[in-house]
Amino acid sequence: MKIGFIGVGGMARAIIGGLIQARTFAPTDIVVHSHRQESYQPYAQEHGLVAVLSNQKVVQASDLVILAVTPNVAPAVLKEIKADLTGKVLISIVAGLSLGDIADLVGETVPALRTLPNVNVEVGAGMTAVAANAALTGDDLTAALRVFNTIGDTTELAEDQFGVFSALAGSSPAYIDFFIDSLSRAGVKHGLTKAQATQIAAQATLGSAKMVLSSNKIPFELIDQVSSPGGSTVAGLLAMEEAGLMTAVVKGIDATIKRDAGGPA
Ligand SMILES: NC(=O)c1ccc[n+]([C@@H]2O[C@H](COP(=O)([O-])OP(=O)(O)OC[C@H]3O[C@@H](n4cnc5c(N)ncnc54)[C@H](OP(=O)(O)O)[C@@H]3O)[C@@H](O)[C@H]2O)c1
Repeated sequence: MKIGFIGVGGMARAIIGGLIQARTFAPTDIVVHSHRQESYQPYAQEHGLVAVLSNQKVVQASDLVILAVTPNVAPAVLKEIKADLTGKVLISIVAGLSLGDIADLVGETVPALRTLPNVNVEVGAGMTAVAANAALTGDDLTAALRVFNTIGDTTELAEDQFGVFSALAGSSPAYIDFFIDSLSRAGVKHGLTKAQATQIAAQATLGSAKMVLSSNKIPFELIDQVSSPGGSTVAGLLAMEEAGLMTAVVKGIDATIKRDAGGPA
């Protein structure tokens, strides 16, 4: 199976890197083209990918086609490749481009998957929302999902929930980094070096996320497990809540969603 990328910017490169590292596709099964030859040619050469001279040629040479261009050029590119899409699966990572928009541009019969990957695909731990159209079923759907399951996890979502997803997974790496930095800063306040405190805070965050995902418990049950009666953890938790931690997080997500929907900053 061949996979083609139209656009090889930051996000496409993160996905390609993950696919090569996991050996889901051999470099010679990855076909690329983008706007400027000086951008895609050296990149393809460096990684042993197949570079072709047009977007149409990407589609002709691929089974799965990933549309990885910026939103402003996506409609023109879809019109350009429309005639070559018969028998192909189209995967879009273009933010804001709905399945309805795709159907208007290339027709409803092209199997299509709308996706929203987050930046953590770069380290193989991404979170990607997916929505398939009615034409994408069976083995084609499995193949399309495998791309994103190779580089993290996926969740099927109704398209009207992509805005919430974008706040919870697209913007949250910044918020989680902010939390890690706050934890680390507290370590510095109490005498650790910044490097050591950051390593400790980041690894504790990673491990706690793994605990949540690998247990059948909600986070509050895990909190209770580590909070012994009259102990230091419950004292810390209550002090954080007195300062409004949960309300601050929810307000931050509300503001993200509002701004994403076109509201004021
Ligand atoms: N970055 C993120 O965290 C993120 C997350 C989720 C979704 N997305 C979506 O992913 C898409 C790509 O984002 P990005 O951050 O990778 O953008 P980017 O770095 O700006 O890359 C855009 C790519 O599109 C190529 N391009 C422009 N016009 C083209 C054309 N007519 N034909 C073929 N290729 C063309 C550019 O070519 P050259 O390299 O030759 O200039 C470039 O490779 C966007 O639609 C964005 O909404 C991004």
